This record gives sequence, structure tokens and C-alpha cells, in this order.
Amino acid sequence: GKSNFVRIVEVGPRDGLQNESRPIPPPIKAELINRLGQAGLRNIEAGSFVSPKWVPQLAGTAEVLSLIDPIPNTHLSVLVPNSKGLDEVFRVLSASVSPDSAAKPPPPVTEVAIFTAATDAFSRANTNVSVSESLTRLEPVARAALAKGLRVRGYVSVIVTCPYSGRVDPRRVRDVSRELIQMGCYEVSLGDTTGTGTPASVRTVLEEVCKEIDPSRLAGHFHDTNGTALANIFTALDLGLRSFDASVGGLGGCPYSPGATGNVATEDVVYALAGESFYGDIGEPPKWDFGPISLPLLAETGAWISETLGRENTSRAGRAYLAR
Ligand code: HMG
Ligand code: MG
Repeated sequence: GKSNFVRIVEVGPRDGLQNESRPIPPPIKAELINRLGQAGLRNIEAGSFVSPKWVPQLAGTAEVLSLIDPIPNTHLSVLVPNSKGLDEVFRVLSASVSPDSAAKPPPPVTEVAIFTAATDAFSRANTNVSVSESLTRLEPVARAALAKGLRVRGYVSVIVTCPYSGRVDPRRVRDVSRELIQMGCYEVSLGDTTGTGTPASVRTVLEEVCKEIDPSRLAGHFHDTNGTALANIFTALDLGLRSFDASVGGLGGCPYSPGATGNVATEDVVYALAGESFYGDIGEPPKWDFGPISLPLLAETGAWISETLGRENTSRAGRAYLAR
């Protein structure tokens, strides 16, 4: 039967911060990750090692990782587009285990995320290559990461519509997802990058992808541009998906998807799931604290980062909790 265990992957420090226009000091980014860990999130995408010419905002990821407090039982992930990015991950991991470095443990990075798209136009805008070229480039990255004992997660962007080529063929999403699974990704996160998806259009894509991939190996990554992200999550739950990406305070967007807003807010997902018989990351029965995730600490974190960045906190549940 379908599990009632829901995994939440917090992507705020990566998807959220990559879209901010003003530079954010590494200690602020590290504090965000530390607070998310204290709030009980057990899967956190901490940043990316991409070209600083393409995404200047995430240039300081190595420094951010060096400033993170150890968080027990937590998977930290970083996004990489190519071998150069993966080499950076290896460098950071090995630098911090050298015998002459102080007692500080290595940053607990256990996972890398690789990414491609369902359309060539988006893939070119985001990474300068077609989808098939990107898969060719990513295959050795996945292989090398797996050989070092890292988990590999895959992303497929623009599963519903593409900002450059319009409506997306669900069969393309299915085929690209299958390629990522064949490369050794333990899970493929399906991105509604533009946030144009509705329960009906998301159901159509997911049904197509589930013809070839078990829903236990799929995650939903819904941007909330049109306010449909939570509805899309419940559609995905209905189809058997149990892993969802979310961003505290609703931070985020993609620099290569003009006008798209942040991911669904983590606080809103936690609040909405708590009334269901779903369990949080580790499997304690839901109370006001959702499994191990504390909505109060999450709400405070969302308010703090929004204020720090001078942006609106778009989490409804976070604002409601703080105004109670
Ligand atoms: P390129 O210009 O074709 O590649 O970019 P290049 O190899 O010619 O490199 C250009 C420069 O970047 C060179 O520097 C490289 O050394 C450097 P120069 O010699 O000119 O001084 N470089 C790097 N530096 C640091 N780390 C690296 C790296 N690679 C090259 N890893 C490339 C190709 C893939 C590098 C570029 O297009 C890129 O970095 N793209 C990333 C874009 C990105 O981060 N987008 C946002 C994340 S994806 C997303 O948000 C979607 C998601 O949330 C799901 C969804 O919502 O759909 C995941
Ligand atoms: Mg995204």
C-alpha cells in the first residue's frame, strides 16, 4: 500500500536564495540552514556549485558549508550542473577531513542534485545545452558522485509549461525522468518551474511518468506563481508521491523563468499535511509539531529570513501562526 510517510525537502537556501537580487552574506545563509535544521527539517538543499557568471547569488556556497553547525540525521544536498561543480563538492568534503584541520567535522553533505529539463529551450536558457547534451554531461557526474558514496537526486524542470516553448509533452517528462533514474538517481524531482500547473494538468503529467517510474521514486517541486502549488501537492499525494520540495517563507524562483515566484512555502505544506494522517520526515504522529518538524520554529525562520532580505513572507500558515 501507499506509505503515509511524507518527506519534505527544504530548498529555500538554494532555490530561494538564487533568485534574490542583492548579495546575501554567507553567515546569513548558514544561519538560515542552521535554523531550518533546528526546526526539524531533515533534507536541506544548502546551495549550488554553478557558474557564478550565471547565478552570482550562489557564489559563496563553499563558505556557507564551512559555517554550518552539524545537524544529526540530516541530509544536506548541493546542486551541481557539471563535473566542475562536483569537483568543488569533493574539494569541500576532503578539505574539511584533512588531519591538520581543527576538530571541526566536515559539512554533512551527503547528496548532490543534478538537473535537466523537459524542453531544449529551457535547458539551453538554464545550462547552455540541449536536453540530450545535458544528459550526456550529467551521466559521468552521477557516476562519480555515486562512486564516492553520495546520493544523487535528479531534477526535471518545466514539466507543465516552458517559458520559451509553451505547453510541454508529458512523454518528454517521462523519458527524461527515466534517463535520470537509469543514471542512478534515487529520486527524480518534477519541477513545475513556471507554476502554471493545475491539479488537472499535473495529474496528466504524473500519470504519464508513473507509467514507467514508481511514484515512491518521484518528488513534486511546485512553484506557487498562481497559488495552485498546494492543490498540486494533494493531487500528487493522491497518485502516490510522498516527497515534496518546499521553501521556507515561500522564497525563490528561477533566474531563467521570468516572472515565476517561489516554491510552495514549507510552513504551508507542514500545516496542510498535519490535518491528514500523513507523517513527517521521521515518522512521529503529527501534532502541532509535524513529526519532527516544528511549525513554530519554521514560522519564525520564514519571518526572519523574509525580514532580513526585505521581502514579503508569502507563507500564509507562517503569518497566521505568528499573528495568532
Ligand atoms: P557555460 O557558459 O556554457 O559553460 O555554462 P563554461 O564551461 O563555458 O563555463 C563558463 C564559466 O563558468 C567558466 O569560467 C567556467 O570555469 C565557469 P571562465 O573560464 O569564463 O572564468 N564554470 C563554473 N564555475 C563554478 N562552478 C561550476 C562551473 N562550471 C563552469 N560548476 C553552466 C554552463 C552549466 C556552467 C552554466 O550554464 C550554469 O552554471 N548554469 C546554472 C544555472 C542555474 O544554476 N540555474 C538555477 C538552478 S536550476 C533551477 O532553479 C530549477 C529547479 O529549481 C527545478 C525547477 O524549479 O524547475 C532545480
Ligand atoms: Mg525551482
